[in-house]
Amino acid sequence: MSGIAIQHLSKTYPGATPVHALDEIHLQVNEGEFIALLGPSGCGKSTLLNLVAGFEQPSAGKLTVEGQAVKRPGPERGVVFQEAALFPWLSVWENVVFGPKMAGEARSAYEPRAKEMLEITGLSAFTNHLPVQLSGGMRQRVGIARVLTLGSRILLMDEPFGALDAQTRLTMQELLLSVWHRFRKTVVFVTHDIDEAILLADTIYVMSARPGRIQTRIEVPIERPRTLEHTTSEQFNALKREIMHQIRH
Ligand SMILES: Nc1ncnc2c1ncn2[C@@H]1O[C@H](COP(=O)(O)OP(=O)(O)OP(=O)(O)O)[C@@H](O)[C@H]1O
Ligand SMILES: [Mg+2]
Repeated sequence: MSGIAIQHLSKTYPGATPVHALDEIHLQVNEGEFIALLGPSGCGKSTLLNLVAGFEQPSAGKLTVEGQAVKRPGPERGVVFQEAALFPWLSVWENVVFGPKMAGEARSAYEPRAKEMLEITGLSAFTNHLPVQLSGGMRQRVGIARVLTLGSRILLMDEPFGALDAQTRLTMQELLLSVWHRFRKTVVFVTHDIDEAILLADTIYVMSARPGRIQTRIEVPIERPRTLEHTTSEQFNALKREIMHQIRH
């Protein structure tokens, strides 16, 4: 069984005042599918992503990735956060090859892959730079090159472009579209930007406020390959109106 399967999943953070973050989540993400989790701040988007990543454990319910219950993080699930969590003392190259190196992979095996991913993400000229010498968009591209080099089949992205300026954000969305088109990874993409969700995803799950539930599932009928041009079409705007309506109710 491939993909991600979530059934009856709930998550409560324990403590003096327990927080019921997720309630009765059902979700199926097929292999190669790109889904977006869309919802207001605090509805549990990051919690859901962190459960799939294996950083957190469910309080109840079932969560499997490729047929296996998720117990801990694993290299088949690559995570990209809002701020690329790079090692500040390592160069771009060392950051990108860190995973395969730690996994004991031979240099001759990971080197061509790392070079290709740095090429695709437009970073070939910056391999010796330190993270501090890069722009925010470039740091996010290193984060993407890193999970691609790791060979993760599943990309878990938590508002990866949320901290970027509008123009850089569009460039990054285009980059992600081309990467997805080329490698067909399974992607779970968290955002609160409706345009971003429509542009990128096959399926959008709109979540309701706490405790987070899946309120609506929307299939995006816009043809692929997609470009930024699509964001101005009548079809795009109609879908955006529909989603805005769903969110208000
Ligand atoms: N480690 C934690 N311990 C206790 N409560 C937590 C923890 N992480 C998240 N929460 C709570 O769970 C709820 C959901 O948080 P989560 O971060 O998943 O929301 P979100 O949808 O990602 O929000 P945002 O859009 O602001 O990032 C919030 O009420 C939050 O305070
Ligand atoms: Mg979050």
